[in-house]
Amino acid sequence: MTDLMTIEGLGHVYEGKDPFEAIGRLDFTIPEGAFVSIVGPSGCGKTTMLRCLSGLMTPTRGTVTLDGKPLDGVPHDLALVFQDYSRSLFPWRTVAGNVAFAFPRGQVSKQERQERIEESLDAVGLSEAAGKYPWQLSGGMQQRVAIARALAYRPRILLMDEPFASVDAQTRAELEDLMLAVRERFRMTILFVTHDIDESVYLGDRVLVLSKSPSTIVQAVDIDLPSPRDQVTTRELDAFVHLRGAIARMIRDGGAAPTPSP
Ligand SMILES: Nc1ncnc2c1ncn2[C@@H]1O[C@H](COP(=O)(O)OP(=O)(O)O)[C@@H](O)[C@H]1O
Ligand SMILES: [Mg+2]
Repeated sequence: MTDLMTIEGLGHVYEGKDPFEAIGRLDFTIPEGAFVSIVGPSGCGKTTMLRCLSGLMTPTRGTVTLDGKPLDGVPHDLALVFQDYSRSLFPWRTVAGNVAFAFPRGQVSKQERQERIEESLDAVGLSEAAGKYPWQLSGGMQQRVAIARALAYRPRILLMDEPFASVDAQTRAELEDLMLAVRERFRMTILFVTHDIDESVYLGDRVLVLSKSPSTIVQAVDIDLPSPRDQVTTRELDAFVHLRGAIARMIRDGGAAPTPSP
């Protein structure tokens, strides 16, 4: 796989009365088409990193290149999904109206807009809810709307920041499987931040484990679990149990050497 994104020497210090070094130094690449999960302790700079990778914020140090070109603002082929779906949806717009917001003015024909809205809503299982308003939907359904909007954009790379952190366990499992299906259907590259180790392993082809701030990469762990993954059988595999244990230990022990595989 070729690399879609390359991150070199990325570091970030929040300036102010008490400057705070959130990110120490990150170097990694994101292969085109990969599902890369990122885990690390709370406050280690995961959101800061995503802001830098999305072009929303310029890091203090280092470079981010997409397709060999340095980032200059938010790239047109990148989409973002945040944890807080209730704030990312417009309450006065219908579900379809919220998805329609993905399109930059005048860049997509009316017919194509309609097709993309329908395809995206179908992909997240919300075709029937197109005319509803966000407040008529459950939290999980609202997050599906946010995902549909990102899909309608047809991004080459999708960045997600703890997108399922505020839904119940059952809904979360459904949304995880939705992401796996959506990834197959739209063939995107996905960068998925979570604080849930099991989720990172279940979804990822690779898990980047971050240390606490100022963060560095403790290890990039390749996840060679069989696909398609299954909520019950995948999580029962010895390899799954071993990976989640190894990653939990890396997070607990910070930069200390991980235990070798049996
Ligand atoms: N705008 C900001 N100004 C100052 N410090 C910030 C700002 N945003 C985040 N931080 C600090 O940077 C650290 C990393 O934050 P964040 O990237 O949100 O971590 P995470 O997403 O991993 O929980 C935290 O200690 C946080 O308090
Ligand atoms: Mg965060």
